[in-house]
Amino acid sequence: MTAVEQSLPAKEQQPKTIYLKDYQVPGYLIKTTDLRFEIYEGETIVSAMLHLYRNPAASTPATQLTLHGADLELISIALDGKVLTGSDYEFGEESLTIFNTPAEFKLLSITKIKPESNTSLEGLYRSRTMYCTQCEAEGFRKITYYLDRPDVMSEFTTTVVADKKYPVLLSNGNLIDQGDAENNRHYATWHDPFKKPAYLFALVAGDLAHIEDKFTTCSKREVTLKIFVEPKDLDKCDHAMTSLKNSLRWDEEVYGREYDLNIFMIVAVDDFNMGAMENKGLNIFNTSCVLAKPETTTDGGFQRVEGVVAHEYFHNWSGNRVTCRDWFQLSLKEGFTVYRDSEFSADMGSRTVKRVEDVTLLRTLQFAEDAGPMAHPIRPESYIEISNFYTMTIYEKGAEIIRMLATLLGKENFRKGTDLYFERHDGQAVTTEDFVAALSDASGRDLTQFKRWYSQAGTPRLQVSDHYDEDAQEYSLTIKQSCPPTPECQQKLPFHIPVAIGLLGSAGDLPLYLKDAEPDFETGDNTHKVLELTAAEQTFVFQRVQEKPVPSLLRGFSAPVKLHYDYSRDDLIVLMSRDSDGFNRWEASQQLGLQAIHRAMEAYQRGEDFAALQLDVDLVAAYRSVLQDDSLDKAMVAYMLSLPSEAYLSELADLVDVEAIHYSRTAIRKMIARELRDDFARIYRAYDHAQPYAATADAIAARSLKNVALGYLMVLVDETVVRACEQQYRAANNMTDVIAALTQLVNAEAPLAQQLAEVALADFYQRWQHESLVVNQWISVQATCVLPNTLAKVKTLQTHAAYDGKNPNKIRALVASFCNGNAINFHADAGAGYQFLADQIIVLNTQNPQIASRLLTPLTKWKKYSPDRQRLMKTELERIMATPGLSKDVFEVVSKSLV
Ligand code: TRP
Ligand code: ZN
Repeated sequence: MTAVEQSLPAKEQQPKTIYLKDYQVPGYLIKTTDLRFEIYEGETIVSAMLHLYRNPAASTPATQLTLHGADLELISIALDGKVLTGSDYEFGEESLTIFNTPAEFKLLSITKIKPESNTSLEGLYRSRTMYCTQCEAEGFRKITYYLDRPDVMSEFTTTVVADKKYPVLLSNGNLIDQGDAENNRHYATWHDPFKKPAYLFALVAGDLAHIEDKFTTCSKREVTLKIFVEPKDLDKCDHAMTSLKNSLRWDEEVYGREYDLNIFMIVAVDDFNMGAMENKGLNIFNTSCVLAKPETTTDGGFQRVEGVVAHEYFHNWSGNRVTCRDWFQLSLKEGFTVYRDSEFSADMGSRTVKRVEDVTLLRTLQFAEDAGPMAHPIRPESYIEISNFYTMTIYEKGAEIIRMLATLLGKENFRKGTDLYFERHDGQAVTTEDFVAALSDASGRDLTQFKRWYSQAGTPRLQVSDHYDEDAQEYSLTIKQSCPPTPECQQKLPFHIPVAIGLLGSAGDLPLYLKDAEPDFETGDNTHKVLELTAAEQTFVFQRVQEKPVPSLLRGFSAPVKLHYDYSRDDLIVLMSRDSDGFNRWEASQQLGLQAIHRAMEAYQRGEDFAALQLDVDLVAAYRSVLQDDSLDKAMVAYMLSLPSEAYLSELADLVDVEAIHYSRTAIRKMIARELRDDFARIYRAYDHAQPYAATADAIAARSLKNVALGYLMVLVDETVVRACEQQYRAANNMTDVIAALTQLVNAEAPLAQQLAEVALADFYQRWQHESLVVNQWISVQATCVLPNTLAKVKTLQTHAAYDGKNPNKIRALVASFCNGNAINFHADAGAGYQFLADQIIVLNTQNPQIASRLLTPLTKWKKYSPDRQRLMKTELERIMATPGLSKDVFEVVSKSLV
């Protein structure tokens, strides 16, 4: 027996795996659901009246009913008014089975729950001063006995009764009644006319303030919009409201989707496992994804609020009106909705910038996931705990799959397809197959092969080679595709991949005359083409090519693949300087950066001094011309001048050399800073710090470029720069500039910087201690400090008054920032970081399994490190595995990682 096997619980106690192939329609459906919540200090009584009836679609008529239920205390249960006794039903592990059930009946259950001691933040729980719910994916079963599966859709009526110290009582739909109750209590009754699965249920009770606005829909209906927050946060709601109104309008204009209730509410909650939740008519948000004002929120924060508000709103159609049949279909709503919110953000700001940001996220985190032990297709075949599948793959890769469909169909056909999908499946719980079928039916395109993207995991690799025949004036591109094996699938069939391309000649983009195809002068100037790769290897021949071109491949990152083409440094400089595709200009800058860093890494690994390295003069000249090009979007300049992250460098490596990556990247940064010092200084000086803050794309871009310049200047150990940085920290009128300056001071080694950093950190806390979200940024800056001794500081911060080990945002700011965003320290000191993380996970395993499981990610990558580190990381995984009472969440990730 191996250590792993020994530590596994006995087979029969092991959590069981759920398979897609085992899907069966429910035996019963629920016509109406009437809920009554009596909230008291310490306990809540839930009465649920369910009108059940046999599902006509079931193959045999059901004669018993198994309801889901977890952590519930059953007080009584009655069927059609007759109280049931012990012999009428039986408890299972997380279920209640009632025997001899008729064709149609009413079931009234009364249960007791304890929101105050619910630390999992699933079901009904208490966050600071309010009560709130989180039901997706399977949290409703912690509220009452129910058919807690998304293909059971019911019409909900909800009454909430509570003490008047909770003046605001909310649930889904429209308010239909309210009034006083005994003992200084009151009630509110809400009715949601739209059938919905239980995961979209929500309830809130609290002493909340709100802002209110109106929106007139395309059919001239007036909708009331409300955002509820704790009174202290009322000054931070405007940006979310603007984003919400923009989202309602955009979905009407771009997808023809109108909002369907008279009221739309958002509630901000401080303790929340994820970003936000799309409950029908009553979205519940992590405060971090609603609250924003310039003094407290960075530009990234503003953009996140806009994106998440849009995302949750868009779910009203992609998720709520048309929902998922089962949780294997999660990407049906999430991938599509991420695609929708990403296009929305592109339309609100800069399209190319948004693309660069999305691709960066995908290539660092999703590619890593797809290459690790938790790799899964966007429609998984099996899971142990569904909460573990709210992943980068389901969301971000899922969105890429939809983007490819949009590319292949073209704008018009894609819209026809989504119209058909919404019309055909309104009010239904459906599958990803149904989605693709609607697109295929509306466009007439055969998407059979394309569907492999739904069932095959792993990141495909494209190997591109080319040949120019000067005599024939022909240029050919040969593309080979392959996909590495993943846990569930060893042999992959070829994917259907849209490869957008252009060819660069000496005077710009060349016209494209693809052999056996029509030139495209209709939708463009015939310099851009989407090649459709369907075979394992394919050659595309271009005619009338008068010079050897530089190919601009995978424009706009048209598919989630790893592209390999042997670009010379000169090719890349050409692409970076004048590709008409903005994304590929950035991509070329990243490839150039990678080449430089990889050369430095080789030197480091040979034990050579970085002093012997030199930056190529042409590269420096290309960077400089980007910096001096006023026609470029400043945000793009900022991204082009930023080197690939350590996380991306690690993802690219087969074996991660933590030190080589960190020190080589730092060395290249220093060389760039030295070469371009004057340009950076000019940009920094030209920026007017006194200008009023605006969260517009242009203003955000200017700040980001200026702060990138500051970052480069700060590596040059120059007292005037350090002073200027400190001046920025003190004088800035917005959190973006404050945090940028603070981050630079904290990470600068020079004694003066360290001294000023200490003063600034103390000042910052003093100033912002009452703003929880601002304190989180203060914690994060410290947890990601690359200087030595950070782990000790992280441990000290855990005991700081500002820290709360039960609040997910605090845990993310401290523990997750350190373990995911500080490789050089996390991997240092003979496994001290690993041990620290495992300690946190073991505590959180009982407290909040979802968060515990999410924190595991860096340890699951153990196979990518040196043998020493592998051993140390594995030891910690085994220690977690041996913990008694392991949650399904943690069990699944650890056991799959140890295989
Ligand atoms: N559906 C939510 C979204 O918009 C995700 C979500 C919110 C979630 N809270 C959750 C998923 C809790 C699992 C558990 O993407
Ligand atoms: Zn979502």
